[in-house]
Amino acid sequence: MGVISALGMWGVVVFPIQRYLPEATGISVDIDWLFKFMSFFSVPILVYVNGYILYFTIRYRNRPGQPMQEAGSSVHDHPGLEFWWTAIPSVLMLVLGVLSAVLIPHYYTANAATNSITIEAIGHQFSWEFRYPGLKDEVPDELHLPVNVPVTIDVTSTDVIHSFWVPAFRMKQDMIPGMVVPMTMTPTEVGKFEIVCTEFCGVGHSGMRDRYVYVQSKDDFDAWYAAEKKKQATAPQEVTAAVLAAGDASAGQALFAQKCSVCHNAAPFDQRKVGPGLANLFHDPSHPKLLSGLAPNPKDVAEILEHGLSGPIGVMPNAQTNGLSAKDIADLVAYLGTLTK
Ligand code: CUA
Repeated sequence: MGVISALGMWGVVVFPIQRYLPEATGISVDIDWLFKFMSFFSVPILVYVNGYILYFTIRYRNRPGQPMQEAGSSVHDHPGLEFWWTAIPSVLMLVLGVLSAVLIPHYYTANAATNSITIEAIGHQFSWEFRYPGLKDEVPDELHLPVNVPVTIDVTSTDVIHSFWVPAFRMKQDMIPGMVVPMTMTPTEVGKFEIVCTEFCGVGHSGMRDRYVYVQSKDDFDAWYAAEKKKQATAPQEVTAAVLAAGDASAGQALFAQKCSVCHNAAPFDQRKVGPGLANLFHDPSHPKLLSGLAPNPKDVAEILEHGLSGPIGVMPNAQTNGLSAKDIADLVAYLGTLTK
C-alpha cells in the first residue's frame, strides 16, 4: 500500500491538468495547486482505507466449516492508533481550510486596478445575458473579455438560481435572484472557453452550456466592442413581408437547434419541453390558433418571435433577449413552415 500510495502521489504531482483544461485566469493556477495539494494527501487515505477494507474482508472471511453465528474477536481501545487517526486528518483539514480561506476571497475582492472593467452576467431560464458599460443592449449568450485586463463580473439572476461556471477560469458562482455577487479575475489566455450552468434550473438546464467566453487581445476586443456598439446603434431591421418571404429554412433549422430547442421540440404541440412542440404550427386542427390568440400565419408567428409572449404555458423571451435579427426570424418562420409531423 505504501508503494501504491507513493505512485499515486507522484502521479498527482506530475499530472498536467492544464493540458486537459487550460488555466485561463491568474487564480486558476492557485486553484489547481490547491486541488493537487488536496489530492496528494487524499491518495494515501484512499489507498490505506480501501486497502485495509479489502485486506480484512479477505483475511477474516467466513471459512468453510465455520459457523455463521460465531462471535468475532473483540478488540478494545488502541489509544495510540486513535490519537494519530484523529490528529493527522485534523491537521490536514485545518491546513486545507486555511489555504482555502486565504485563496477564495481573491474571487470577491473589488478590483482597484484603474484599467479594470465591470460586466454584468444575468441568468435566465434558459440563456445568459451579458451587459457591458457603454452598450445600451445586452449581449446574449456570448461573453467577450480582453486578455490581461482585470474584470469584475456582477453575477445575478432574474428567475431561479443558476450557477455561472467557466471551468477554464476555475470559478463558479451561484446566480441568485435579488442578489448581486461580484466576482473578480484576470483572464490570462486568449481563447474560447465554455460557459456551463451548474445548478439545476429547470427543463432547459442542460441547454445552458455550449456557450462561450471569448478572451481576446485588446485590439480584437476593441474591434468586437465597436462592432457591437454600431450594431446596437443602427435601428433594427423590421420584419417586413419582403424579409419574411426571403426566409431560408435550412438556416432556420440550424438556428432552431441552437436557440429554440432548449425550450421547444420540433414535434407535435403536446410534446412540450418548456413551451409547446412546434411541428404543425401552421396547420394543427386541434390548435387552430397560436397562443397569442391569432391565426397561425407567418406574420403572426414572426410577431411572437419578435416581441416574445407571456401566456398560459409560460414566458417566451423576445428577439433581443434571444439574440435574433429580423433575418433570423424570417429563417425560423420558414423552417417552422416545413415542419409537419
Ligand atoms: Cu441555468 Cu441550470
